[in-house]
Amino acid sequence: MTAPAIALSGIVKHYRMGDEDIPALRGIDLAVPSGTFAAVRGPSGSGKSTLLNICGLIDAPDAGRYLLAGEDVGGLDEDARTMIRRRSIGFVFQSYNLVPVMSVRDNVEYPLLLLGLPAGERRGRVDEILDQVGLAGLADRRPDQLSGGQRQRVAIARALVKSPTLVIADEPTANLDTATAAQVIDLMKALGHRHGATFLIATHDDRMTAHCDSVHAITDGSLQ
Ligand SMILES: Nc1ncnc2c1ncn2[C@@H]1O[C@H](COP(=O)(O)OP(=O)(O)OP(=O)(O)O)[C@@H](O)[C@H]1O
Ligand SMILES: [Mg+2]
Repeated sequence: MTAPAIALSGIVKHYRMGDEDIPALRGIDLAVPSGTFAAVRGPSGSGKSTLLNICGLIDAPDAGRYLLAGEDVGGLDEDARTMIRRRSIGFVFQSYNLVPVMSVRDNVEYPLLLLGLPAGERRGRVDEILDQVGLAGLADRRPDQLSGGQRQRVAIARALVKSPTLVIADEPTANLDTATAAQVIDLMKALGHRHGATFLIATHDDRMTAHCDSVHAITDGSLQ
């Protein structure tokens, strides 16, 4: 049996700002089976991004246990966490987070450069994924020469080009109109299945949650 992509137990996270202590996650238990799409839905400030940042190894919890594809990642130092993030986790954000001075092709290639892949393999993988997201003809443009939906497709290509085990998507359709959001959702589903990736998605978008295998409601740092 395959280990869940994500297995969280008792995850607690507080932010400290001066004397103020802000509880953001109050004991999260969550299992996301490998290869599935899981949505986290909840009001603003409920802890969705905090939870995704912990699952993406961007941030560390104060307490609790995190098994990523069966591996306990709790005790790892920052270098080891960075290695796992580069190799195994892709990110898609609401605001795309593309590098503005780089072409579409270079944005998508960047994660492969960080992994030290040879040039020929990088080129092959980038061509293939740009074709899969329907942007092969726009490879030499810069992000500011693209529509919002096209930018998000670049971000999806960048997230999936290394065939990650996990994709973290924080409100991926929030900036998109209805028709474009539907295209982006369809694309994430199709590519997710093709690459065998697990998706953890924070969203308010009912069309997004309708396409997910599980929907987890979060309120005030607790899952229902
Ligand atoms: N860097 C930070 N420093 C201090 N407090 C923070 C920080 N990031 C988040 N918080 C607080 O932690 C709680 C959870 O925030 P989080 O960003 O995870 O919510 P969210 O569900 O993603 O909200 P939104 O839907 O608005 O994106 C909130 O009370 C927020 O104000
Ligand atoms: Mg958020």
